[in-house]
Amino acid sequence: MRTLPALLTATVLALPLVTAVASPLPEAEARTAAPASAWHHRLREAAPEGMVIGTAVAGGGHHEDQDYPDPFTHDRRYLRHMSQQFSSLSPENQMKWEFLRPDQDTYDFAAADAIVEYAEANGQVVRGHTLLWHSQNPDWLEEGDFSREELRTLLREHITTVVGRYSGRIDQWDVANEIFQEDGELRTEENIWIRELGPGIIADAFRWAHEADPSAELFLNDYNVDGVNPKSDAYYAFAQDLLEQGVPLHGFSTQAHLSLQYAFPGDLEDNLRRFDELGLNTAITELDVRMAPDGRHGRPSREQLAQQADYYRQALEACLNVEGCRSFTIWGFTDKYSWVPHFFEDEGYATVMTDRFQRKPAFYALLRTLAHAG
Ligand code: G3I
Repeated sequence: MRTLPALLTATVLALPLVTAVASPLPEAEARTAAPASAWHHRLREAAPEGMVIGTAVAGGGHHEDQDYPDPFTHDRRYLRHMSQQFSSLSPENQMKWEFLRPDQDTYDFAAADAIVEYAEANGQVVRGHTLLWHSQNPDWLEEGDFSREELRTLLREHITTVVGRYSGRIDQWDVANEIFQEDGELRTEENIWIRELGPGIIADAFRWAHEADPSAELFLNDYNVDGVNPKSDAYYAFAQDLLEQGVPLHGFSTQAHLSLQYAFPGDLEDNLRRFDELGLNTAITELDVRMAPDGRHGRPSREQLAQQADYYRQALEACLNVEGCRSFTIWGFTDKYSWVPHFFEDEGYATVMTDRFQRKPAFYALLRTLAHAG
């Protein structure tokens, strides 16, 4: 059972907005490139009206293997940037089954509650992540001996309880996460819900979530669906089908975990637009841009940081250019807590601030692009 230390008090929740720390070289260089009107703003303030700029809230998952304490409860500097810069928060792991359901009869809402309360205290919205997924499910669920009916009841109760608890307080839910494979087939074998209950369970998950909170926007969310490809084509057909059935599907979102070793998905905007034309909202939900550093001392070169900034800018511009794309989230804002080095042996430096919270060119690229759009 996870408990939140006393540090997370109302004082911390209502952090004062103070000016960010001074910046050494890369930031100073980036500032030179930014128009004066842009760089003294914060991301959340620079965003056009109606658009939220989000970050994942570090905690759980890979953080649990690290020697630092929980960032959300212990790192004041981290929290200060989070409240200053962002208007939307996505729990990185704290609303996943593994986290919320330590055993079949227990819900542990401590960390999720704290994030929702923090967001409310700081005028931020929340993206709920996630309800039906093949990964980060507890062992008691994956390895349990449940009948089909029992599994269906488990999922229904989970969705009703979790979505119902935050009814009216969570803007968007990733109801179904990563349900397709790269070849456009449903991820049937890996996903306990689809495997045991059939694909119809996905529509039911949306229906149950909508019943529990009619005001939340309900999303299909995945990675490698930035451009037009077999996987995003499968989502397009699937979304059309759900809409024809009258299923309460409100959005399609692409995670956008990008890498400098691949070209920027130049058809991102086209892809978002085709979902927009179905009448769905769209969102970018987990953007980061990783790289294998090729500069001195094993760090990114100036060219890499510039290229990374350009990827961030292009992703943001794609979203800004599509009317129903009003939620733009990066998967963490500091390299200090990024998931990337834990998953990709040779890659890292994927976020917009260094591990010491220095702003990279990518940060200024976002700020400039927002200021320009706003
Ligand atoms: O479950 C194993 C456990 O059995 C093992 O003992 C332990 C030892 O390291 O690892 C556990 O797995 C960890 C897992 O979280 C579950 O807690 C992994 O090491 C850890 O790396 C993992 O990290 C999270 C990852 O999701 C899991 O898929 C990251 O913190 C989180 O940032 C990441 O977020 C996902 C989004 O939810 C969905 N989109 C992709 C994104 C990046 O992978």
